[in-house]
Amino acid sequence: MPSSQRDIHVYPTSQALLEAAAQHLLEHARQAIAARNSFTLALAGGSTPKGLYARLADPPFHGQLDWTKVRLFWGDERHVPPDHADSNYRMAHEALLSRVPISMAQVHRVPSELPDAQTVADQYEAVLRKQFDVSEPDIPRFDFVLLGMGQDGHTASLFPGTQAVQETSRLVAAPWVEKFQTSRITFTPVLLNHARQVTFLIHGRAKAETLHAVLEGPFQPDTLPAQIIGPRAGTLTWFVDQEAAGALIFLPR
Ligand code: 6PG
Repeated sequence: MPSSQRDIHVYPTSQALLEAAAQHLLEHARQAIAARNSFTLALAGGSTPKGLYARLADPPFHGQLDWTKVRLFWGDERHVPPDHADSNYRMAHEALLSRVPISMAQVHRVPSELPDAQTVADQYEAVLRKQFDVSEPDIPRFDFVLLGMGQDGHTASLFPGTQAVQETSRLVAAPWVEKFQTSRITFTPVLLNHARQVTFLIHGRAKAETLHAVLEGPFQPDTLPAQIIGPRAGTLTWFVDQEAAGALIFLPR
């Protein structure tokens, strides 16, 4: 599908990108809370999502979300304890959770301190099923999933060449990531593609060729896992800055 038919929003700077992405997330939160008195949000790791978390914790956005209605989860996590420098939970806690009035009872981090990665994935899947009150074969439906994209086309912790990209039944997987010589814990496409809204947040020239390949190149998700993302009954939105959009041919008009 040419990019012009996709929901791609391009901003002149990363600051403008984060501002717009914060507004976009808040609007979806307002809609979810109005409809279901709750907003289930899956966070991503990485420096771009971190910028959004900091923006959400700053004025004017800080007071615009009823945090008592928000339930937080992580779309992926590193296999490290929550206080580790690489922890996505720690990053989000420093940038956002420590600065907004959310009860830790509503914050459902990945139990990534457990020694066995598959056990971490199994336990997190059980947490999701409990929190959403959904048993097999039904699938929990997130209101909003935030995703970043790596220069290699990975998203969440769905990396090129890993089996998790093609997972068809589990909600959470624990792939071994050769390039990092470590396991990761990640939502699978089964869960990601069941969400109401999935938003990619991508900035910087380094991502331009990859974004062009993902959006305008052949469908090859084993090589470009970001291509596996396509909510069945939800919406997929791309928030990118001009630098990251620099190689797109079919820029949205
Ligand atoms: C992680 C992320 C990962 C990240 C992308 C983009 O745990 O690293 O979840 O998928 O979102 O690598 O990260 P940047 O925005 O820092 O490039």
